[in-house]
Amino acid sequence: MKITHTATELRQALKNQTNIAFVPTMGNLHAGHIHLVEVAKQHAQCVVVSIFVNPLQFSVNEDLATYPRTLVADCEKLKAVDATIVFAPTVAEMYPDFDGDQLNQTMTITPPPIANALCGASRPGHFSGVATVVLKLFNMVMPQVAVFGQKDFQQLFIIKQLVKQFNLPIKIIGVDTVRETSGLAMSSRNGYLSSAHRKQANQLNLALQHIVTQIKSSTPQNNNLDFQQLENEASARLEIQGWVVDYFSIKSALTLDSASSTDVRLVVLAAAKLGNTRLIDNIEFLR
Ligand code: PAF
Repeated sequence: MKITHTATELRQALKNQTNIAFVPTMGNLHAGHIHLVEVAKQHAQCVVVSIFVNPLQFSVNEDLATYPRTLVADCEKLKAVDATIVFAPTVAEMYPDFDGDQLNQTMTITPPPIANALCGASRPGHFSGVATVVLKLFNMVMPQVAVFGQKDFQQLFIIKQLVKQFNLPIKIIGVDTVRETSGLAMSSRNGYLSSAHRKQANQLNLALQHIVTQIKSSTPQNNNLDFQQLENEASARLEIQGWVVDYFSIKSALTLDSASSTDVRLVVLAAAKLGNTRLIDNIEFLR
């Protein structure tokens, strides 16, 4: 496995590769990331994994400074799973004109309005930062296939739009969320949870499952379910358990618009805080 830090080193390492699968990450790798690498290996002989904590996707009051940076341990895990190349650039390599404080001369992508809903509503600029770094990484790696986790459903949706709207010849693969046995979705931010909060963190997934069960037991034709009411009840239940809910939302999985009673492919998404830790999760399902 080659470890590269600059675009030049990466290009050199990729010189003879024609079939590349790419897994972008921010490091602090857990079993969910490793699963993405395993899926990538099914699609190409050469698997590139990037590790870059992208300052553009953090708001000023977020955890950019404290986000766990564990490059040595990450590389050991990637070697064990037989990744081909690690790309771990510096901020200066990715953003030559970024002064560390504001965007200034950095060219960025304005994603479609869906980027301002759900996570984008409380994280302004987040998806512009994600789309910008992913486009830059795609330009550097030039993969045929790129693999993303479904846990970040809205991110995956926006990246599919990016690829379509910028005419990129890259196949985007969404991979099912890897969960702990409790149902808690694996996330680097789970490491922030106190042991008491960790024990109750699966409540987010249980609340999503409860909504899915309620919707599945109704039918689109014979629908008297009030989605707004389901969302409000789920939020209230979590709040009683000590969560601060950012959103709880039932959407069309195809458009991410509010779900209508005739939509069959749905996704229920939630973001909520336990203490200072913001967790997200979702379940996509057919009615
Ligand atoms: O999902 C992530 O870890 C990040 O948002 C990504 C896609 C690597 C871009 O920084």
